[in-house]
Amino acid sequence: MVQLLGNDTTGLAGAAPAAPAAPEPSVAGPAFAARGLTLSYGGTAVLADIDLDVPAGAVTALVGPTGCGKTTFLRSLNRMNDRVPGFRLSGSLELFGEDLYDGTSDPLVVRRRVGMLFQRPNPFPLSIRENVVAGVKAHRLARRSELSAIAEARLRQVGLWEAVSDRLGSSPFRLSGGQQQLLCLARALAVSPAVLLLDEPTSSLDPVSTAAVEAMLTSLVPDITVVIVTHNLAQARRIADHTAFFHQGRLAEHGPTARLFDDPSEEATRHSLSGHFG
Ligand SMILES: Nc1ncnc2c1ncn2[C@@H]1O[C@H](COP(=O)(O)OP(=O)(O)O)[C@@H](O)[C@H]1O
Ligand SMILES: [Mg+2]
Repeated sequence: MVQLLGNDTTGLAGAAPAAPAAPEPSVAGPAFAARGLTLSYGGTAVLADIDLDVPAGAVTALVGPTGCGKTTFLRSLNRMNDRVPGFRLSGSLELFGEDLYDGTSDPLVVRRRVGMLFQRPNPFPLSIRENVVAGVKAHRLARRSELSAIAEARLRQVGLWEAVSDRLGSSPFRLSGGQQQLLCLARALAVSPAVLLLDEPTSSLDPVSTAAVEAMLTSLVPDITVVIVTHNLAQARRIADHTAFFHQGRLAEHGPTARLFDDPSEEATRHSLSGHFG
């Protein structure tokens, strides 16, 4: 698979002064490579011995029963578990060929390259416009004079511009849940991440908002690698190129989505995934 590296990851060049894209090492490998990865809390393993390559430039879905460790795994991908009491990681996890946990990488830099969207929209208590550019300002990715254009471009990119252009200075908390999630997506995209992680981002949204978010996500690849946790198997089937199925503390099976659903190798996968659709 060809990786698109070091270019504007948004297709917005010309529309706005794009934040400089995070330079990625020029290796044509996976976005993430987990080897013998074990994640535990207080000495109890949640997931053990995970070997998984997450392909670059594609959508990968993480599925499995509630409590099987999907969120824990996802949050490990951008070091969000670092400060969780009792959390421990062993084995190795690489991002574009660089070890995330060997003590050399800076979590703040990692989180700029690997953005995240949570289950519930979490706009900051700032105006709509300031929300979009919050990361850009924190990382000093643009000049002050460029911020308005960046806010507009990102709001247009997520399809929110028409709805909010007359109230950019207002609070985001009066927006609908779906609009707030799109705003958070605009904020995440504004720093030009190489990877976007999403934890059940549509679970609190109505079908129309869900469709809008799904369309946005599929439009991001191949420039951005997308990893999405979902309990909605139909959603995985609709938008994911690859699916990883976690079960009973293990990565039970992973591969191209259609194969996993239609022709699973493992009994657990067959039981949980196949036969649910068509
Ligand atoms: N901060 C934490 N401290 C201790 N245990 C946790 C913590 N977060 C999650 N767990 C436990 O780890 C397991 C996996 O949780 P999680 O990753 O949230 O699963 P999923 O997202 O698949 O529902 C669960 O048993 C959960 O109770
Ligand atoms: Mg979860």
